[in-house]
Amino acid sequence: MSDITIHQPSAEFVKQANVSGMAAYEALCKKAETDYEGFWAEQARELLSWKTPFTKVLDESNAPFFKWFEDGTLNASYNCLDRNIEKGLGDKTAIIFEADGGEVTKATYSQLLAKTCQYANALKSVGVKKGDRVMIYISMSIEGVAAMQACARIGATHSVVFGGFSAQSLRDRVEDTGAVAIITADQQVRGGKHLPLKAIVDEALTLGGCDSVKNVLVVNRTGGDIAMTAGRDQWMADLADKQATTCEPEWVGAEHPLFLLYTSGSTGKPKGVQHSTGGYLLHAALTTKWTFDLKDNDVFWCTADIGWVTGHTYITYGPLALGGTEIVFEGVPTYPDAGRFWKMIQDHKVSIFYTAPTAIRSLIKAAEANDAVHPKSYDLSSLRLLGSVGEPINPAAWEWYYKHVGGSRCPIVDTFWQTETGGHMITPLPGVTPMVPGSCTLPFPGIQAAVVDEAGHDMPNGQGGILVVKRPWPSMIRTIWNDPERFIKSYYPEEFKGKYYLAGDGAIRDEKTGYFTITGRIDDVLNVSGHRMGTMEIESALVSCTELVAEAAVVGRPDDTTGEAICAFVVLKRSRPTGDEAKAIAKILRDHVGKEIGPIAKPKDIRFGDNLPKTRSGKIMRRLLRSLAKNEAITQDTSTLENPAILDQLTDNH
Ligand code: WTA
Repeated sequence: MSDITIHQPSAEFVKQANVSGMAAYEALCKKAETDYEGFWAEQARELLSWKTPFTKVLDESNAPFFKWFEDGTLNASYNCLDRNIEKGLGDKTAIIFEADGGEVTKATYSQLLAKTCQYANALKSVGVKKGDRVMIYISMSIEGVAAMQACARIGATHSVVFGGFSAQSLRDRVEDTGAVAIITADQQVRGGKHLPLKAIVDEALTLGGCDSVKNVLVVNRTGGDIAMTAGRDQWMADLADKQATTCEPEWVGAEHPLFLLYTSGSTGKPKGVQHSTGGYLLHAALTTKWTFDLKDNDVFWCTADIGWVTGHTYITYGPLALGGTEIVFEGVPTYPDAGRFWKMIQDHKVSIFYTAPTAIRSLIKAAEANDAVHPKSYDLSSLRLLGSVGEPINPAAWEWYYKHVGGSRCPIVDTFWQTETGGHMITPLPGVTPMVPGSCTLPFPGIQAAVVDEAGHDMPNGQGGILVVKRPWPSMIRTIWNDPERFIKSYYPEEFKGKYYLAGDGAIRDEKTGYFTITGRIDDVLNVSGHRMGTMEIESALVSCTELVAEAAVVGRPDDTTGEAICAFVVLKRSRPTGDEAKAIAKILRDHVGKEIGPIAKPKDIRFGDNLPKTRSGKIMRRLLRSLAKNEAITQDTSTLENPAILDQLTDNH
């Protein structure tokens, strides 16, 4: 890394930081090393309010089903709302909501608590109880955050489904969770367009397997025309407005499942990642404090959707647990133009900005083509800290973000973590870590990240390997809902003697600095625009188009804007199409995948062959497909290939 620029945080930033200077970081790491449980217990006592204090910290007796703070009781919504009001922050703005069209609505902590309580009482009034699952299928809104907080308040486990997922995907999640209720909105508004939500819920509920759902509560977003099924559906406002604005929190055990969030793995259907209440909330709050350096007068903006884990931890829970002020944005970065983010930072005086490399890369392109949407055309002087999440950030995008958005003044925290980890795992701390573009640098204090070989032995720095976490941490995944076996197989496989958490990513540590760089997934998971998808899921969606598709294989290939792009190789039941016909069929298949999973899963590239490259034993040679997808020369040994002629067919020649 000798040829790479190192960026130091400014002395001014270091001085005021919540963790200030390398010595402070090292002291925290040391404390965690010498007294692991004591380290976490101290933070849990300081950052969270407990109804019943915990006496046990970590229980490893049923590993890898670890338990944290098990005999303590608390409530997540109490910690995010009431606790701040008791500290005198009732009139402080909790959420600044900006709608797609630019209208701004604000909610103070008191107002957010009142709405949360009304929603909580509304849920109770239709029979939702502690331990029940509630689906939330809604776009970015104060109501969406309140719905999540309301579930937490009554001890119901929420499962948010991103509004871009299809009816089929929603159905699958409803069935797996056995949810008793769905909170949705009539429609969502994105980029000036009204898109359906309630209609998709209706469709999902006709697809079978959703008998558990007794109630659908509909937030009025657009007043768009929707159908209401008597006895099942009602307007949220009709029910909630008449409820009391107070609601005694349900005190739950620290291990009580706060939420399930579905994410893709390398095999089978998406898995329901189960998170706890105490350990999860602790890490949400602690990382917001240390990684984002959140202070009382900050305006924090995480651009993720609440349908993803980033929106859970860094919109619904972390910033609110610390009494922060945050932006919730309904729209898209390119509407009405690609200056939207910069304009919003200027208008709301955002001080901490957290987004994904994909967004940055697409905004770079737009800014380079048009000065009017270049960050230099806006006053971004309120910014003091930038963050990146979801995928590796390439050094060129990092430098642009640093210079043009952060004015070469703001540290960038490149935060590596996953749905399963609940919060940041490897990341710079802004007042501590010299930054190297493209590297997520060093583990968060207390996180025992390491790079090992296939047998679980430590790799020397400078040599790539498999990323693991050697000790359980408070916000880790507890299990996969309904599938504890899959939890063990995915994260604590026997190869590692069940000892280490397997992240599913490769990593390498720098020889000199020990800094981590993530080298990408080591399984069949793709990362397209920071969205995680399994190749198998997309393959199943393609072959479910039974009238057309005989066989399909999906691989990822690098893409300048979206990080990775989906490339599908398809064998049809009829003869191989070419020219316009191939284009027409590719469109049908793309739409089909959009319907099965959601538009984010549509392959960018679909190629047709009479067959797929297979070994004589019938195994698809994915390595070859990856080379074909990248349009690179085939250098692999193809001697075991049954039918070498099909390589020509599958080469991109349009
Ligand atoms: C990738 C998103 C490099 C990684 C919070 C991980 C990253 C997957 C980074 C998790 C980063 C996330 N640098 N790669 N800073 N952050 N990833 O579950 O492959 O949607 O395993 O969680 O995204 O994606 P997920």
